[in-house]
Amino acid sequence: MASNAPIGVFDSGLGGISVVREIRKEMPGENIIYFGDSANAPYGTKTPGEVRKLSFAIVDRFVAMGVKAIVIACNTATSAAVNDLRATYDLPIISMEPALKVACDRGNGEPQHVIVAATPLTLREKKFIALMQRFSATNTIYRQPCPDLVEIVEHDQLEDHDLVMHTLHRYFDSYDLDEIDSVVLGCTHFVFYRDYFRELLPSSTAIIDGNEGTTRHLHDLLAAAGKLAEPTTQGGVTLKNSDTSERMAALAAKRLND
Ligand code: DGL
Repeated sequence: MASNAPIGVFDSGLGGISVVREIRKEMPGENIIYFGDSANAPYGTKTPGEVRKLSFAIVDRFVAMGVKAIVIACNTATSAAVNDLRATYDLPIISMEPALKVACDRGNGEPQHVIVAATPLTLREKKFIALMQRFSATNTIYRQPCPDLVEIVEHDQLEDHDLVMHTLHRYFDSYDLDEIDSVVLGCTHFVFYRDYFRELLPSSTAIIDGNEGTTRHLHDLLAAAGKLAEPTTQGGVTLKNSDTSERMAALAAKRLND
């Protein structure tokens, strides 16, 4: 049986819209309610307890709206809250973690040098440490927190080329980038910087994000549960934000439609 109920997607702010774009591309029949918590962004410099509380409040709202599944389009909220959320709510919860496995598998057995760019909280939480331990015996993995990249998106400065490149150089100039096989964008805000990273990195360095894998996982879970939208349905996106200003509504629409 198909289900035309919406999918709830959330993030600390605007970053998860990069995931919504991917879901729209692959699953255009689905209705998505997106909630960006920009009034409380960034999550990446908060404590896990604070992020957990904020995540529960959002999921409660989604459940009250009758969503059929939830996508945590935020690596930070995933590391702080996904286990507790899954233990509490009886609906599919799809989460995100930095795509380190994809980066290491690219080597086909050759040791890889990988930089994982993410928020400070994601990089120090147990979930990421455990993931890193699976791959660090055979690969060289660097953890690079980039909190300012979140602020730049939230403050509508993404088009400021000089500011962005200056910020990227500040975070990445200490590496010998020629020896880096891939950079993992382990925060959904960072996916908007793909072109800037391309400009920064040698052409041999791959740029990897988890949006495609997350969308595939969402599709497969809904398919297995018989809950994909009817094939004839015209889907859509409703953008909501805890910052209810017109400025934020316009900025969210810009990130969705860019
Ligand atoms: N977009 C979020 C992530 O994927 C977090 C950004 C933040 O609020 O620090 O981790």
